[in-house]
Amino acid sequence: MAELDFDVFDASQTQRMWDLMREFRRRAPVAPIKGGFVYVSRYREARAVLRDAQKFSNAGGMRPTGLVVPVHDSSIGELVPPVHGPVRKAALAAAQGTGVVTSARAFSRETCETLLDAIVARGSGDLLAEYSLALTTRTIAWLIGVPMEDCDQLAEWGEEIMTSTLTVTNRTERGVGYAESFPEFTNYLEELIEDRIRNEDPSGSVVTRILHSGLEEGKLTTPMIRMILLNLLLGGTGTTRDFIGNLLAEILRRPELHEELHADRALVPAALEESLRLSPPVLYLIRTCTESTQLAGCEIGSGQRVVVGVASANRDEEVYEDADQFRLDRVDPPAHLSFGFGPHLCVGSPLARVEGEEAINTFLDRFAPGQVRLAPGFELEMMPLPYMLGPVRLDVEIVGS
Ligand code: HEM
Repeated sequence: MAELDFDVFDASQTQRMWDLMREFRRRAPVAPIKGGFVYVSRYREARAVLRDAQKFSNAGGMRPTGLVVPVHDSSIGELVPPVHGPVRKAALAAAQGTGVVTSARAFSRETCETLLDAIVARGSGDLLAEYSLALTTRTIAWLIGVPMEDCDQLAEWGEEIMTSTLTVTNRTERGVGYAESFPEFTNYLEELIEDRIRNEDPSGSVVTRILHSGLEEGKLTTPMIRMILLNLLLGGTGTTRDFIGNLLAEILRRPELHEELHADRALVPAALEESLRLSPPVLYLIRTCTESTQLAGCEIGSGQRVVVGVASANRDEEVYEDADQFRLDRVDPPAHLSFGFGPHLCVGSPLARVEGEEAINTFLDRFAPGQVRLAPGFELEMMPLPYMLGPVRLDVEIVGS
């Protein structure tokens, strides 16, 4: 099959790929693209790949072929059985354990109110940095038990890690792994964990939940707990920032949507899902094929990297009527793939949804249509990243409140 002219590492293509994807879904739903990858653009095949983690493995993630990374330096998304199951269970206990999501709702609501108060008092602000990012940073800090005064530092470390070579090569110029590459951060987290263990964590917070999740005794080392906390931080900050940022951008650019949601709050959950479907913060996922196979007529060899086009599958016209339209009246639409699918489905999706709901509802409580608008001359600019979708900033001015 002929190679399609598409490079998943070229942001100028991935950020504007909607027409191209429509063409791929119609002409070549599974096909080779640049860089030796195979691209999967249709919903049916995308789900099939994500469901079958044995044939389409997460091993290696985006690492160079052959690089072996110790579990405590890995991302949960690149773990495979038998290690993945228990670590995922511990992460689920941390992010979804008893009472976590309910308390997160109260925390998010209070945080959203404080953040919007500050913007209203000033009369203007950037809803991306000062609202959606500030909310997600504080919520993750709250989740992993970091004092609020350290929250900005935590976010800064997270950003440094995400933009470093560590996530690919497991080394930076300072050394190998987290301990050598980011020693200040590693020590900070390990001290926090050891303090919780020493003091038996009476508040029943995240470390206790991980300790009681059933991960074998020997595996429950401080570096392993640190790895799980790090995954919550890195997996839960930028993604949720973009999720909320994308929907706010849609509301601010379409006053009729603001009207509709303001008049009927029962529509907010549908708006959140529609935004996730049309503007997924994670545009695609990567797997490695472990045994030669065929998918929609395309040969995929063992060892070949497969790119699952989440953003494309979410607009598959065979699955969604008016697939490119933002519609609030869809009745039980098939689940979008923005949180993934199958054994690696996002562990933070309930938390992200709660943050999104509280962020949008607080915004609607505070601003009737016309009381907030994009700043004069503002033009929406998206982050120039190949794999994520979210605005750079969202400057607004408050007209009245
Ligand atoms: C709207 C916000 C979010 C989006 C769009 C998102 C997206 C995703 C996706 C697509 C995956 C699957 C990766 C794969 O299959 O390779 C995933 C996995 C994961 N997410 Fe999220 N995520 C979000 C929020 C969060 C939050 C708030 C947390 C933490 C509290 C989190 C933690 C994780 C973790 C730990 C995994 C790995 C699960 C595994 O491999 O078993 N995510 N996320």
